[in-house]
Amino acid sequence: MSELTVPPFAVISGAQVQNALLGREKQVVDLVEATYRLHDEGDSVNPPSYFLRFPDRPSDRIIALPASAGGQVRVDGLKWISSFPGNVSAGIPRASAVLILNDHDTGYPFACLESSIISATRTAASAALAADRLSRDRARPARVGFFGVGLIARYIHTFLAGTGWSFDEIGVHDLSTEHAAGFAGYLEQSGATGKITVHDSAESLIRNSDLVVFATVAGEPHVSEVSWFEHNPLVLHVSLRDLAPEIVLASTNIVDDVEHCLKANTSPHLAEQRTGNRDFLDGTLADVMAGRVRPAADRPLVFSPFGLGVLDLAVGKYVYDEVSRAGELHVIEDFFHELRRYG
Ligand SMILES: NC(=O)c1ccc[n+]([C@@H]2O[C@H](COP(=O)([O-])OP(=O)(O)OC[C@H]3O[C@@H](n4cnc5c(N)ncnc54)[C@H](O)[C@@H]3O)[C@@H](O)[C@H]2O)c1
Repeated sequence: MSELTVPPFAVISGAQVQNALLGREKQVVDLVEATYRLHDEGDSVNPPSYFLRFPDRPSDRIIALPASAGGQVRVDGLKWISSFPGNVSAGIPRASAVLILNDHDTGYPFACLESSIISATRTAASAALAADRLSRDRARPARVGFFGVGLIARYIHTFLAGTGWSFDEIGVHDLSTEHAAGFAGYLEQSGATGKITVHDSAESLIRNSDLVVFATVAGEPHVSEVSWFEHNPLVLHVSLRDLAPEIVLASTNIVDDVEHCLKANTSPHLAEQRTGNRDFLDGTLADVMAGRVRPAADRPLVFSPFGLGVLDLAVGKYVYDEVSRAGELHVIEDFFHELRRYG
């Protein structure tokens, strides 16, 4: 008889997720870095994300990100994440998500975690890691600019601050003056270092920032003036569709995963469609981490992270282990019920 058993099934709330991740910015960035290496070494399975779209609701979508992580994480699973931008005007977050973890040996799902926090956390940890790794051969940015200031921008600021960044100036720009003012107020309250300025124009924000963080919900490029980038900033292009191909083509381009990022009309994908080749791509963040690629300091440097499901798994498993260690797993008794083959 084999030793396999059906694992208990637990549900982990957003409050538990937040508690497990609070103040752990450095650990999570290290975990994300290790997971990028794992992915780079081929010890992961990360198929293309599946985008569920609706003809009657074109701005909404739900994305499935299945993945399998090897190494010490050793778990399979799925993130299922909705984006309904109309939620924001009703005062509720745009994105909502669950993460299912599957047992490596039996395939049984053993946990369902609230995952909007996990998703924002892995995205912010990846951005903070990229800011560090991509600024090693250039002057360390002292002026950061946040372009689009929702939940993701807030998490990225937290992760930058939590991993040792401080800034002389923090710029803020958003289509909504209300959101810009809200984020500036949040920064002040949170004790952020640096002079906080709300910029009315995109040009002013970009020209006055050495590190530009795009976290809008733009579906197509709205920034196309190459001269705004003539001071060669480092750009964390987290929202993926803000930059016109001209800007991509005038920059050094680093992505998280080439096949993932050149899809779904991201700005790098548009640049590929425009030129018919991928010559404008310089490599992945893992290439930079391994020293295989050294981005030039005399061009704008754009990091476009598509967002890998394998990162959600790594952060989700970390949360599961923390909650389990604290003895706080809410197990759903009898979740798997038909367990005898012939009744
Ligand atoms: N690459 C990744 O791995 C990854 C992961 C998670 C989220 N994201 C992306 O991050 C983005 C932000 O997510 P969020 O949850 O913070 O969204 P959100 O809706 O909370 O905030 C987005 C903000 O951008 C502003 N905005 C929209 N269009 C703009 C424009 N053209 N110019 C300036 N401001 C604009 C909105 O007013 C809003 O304040 C989304 O596009 C999301 O898909 C990427």
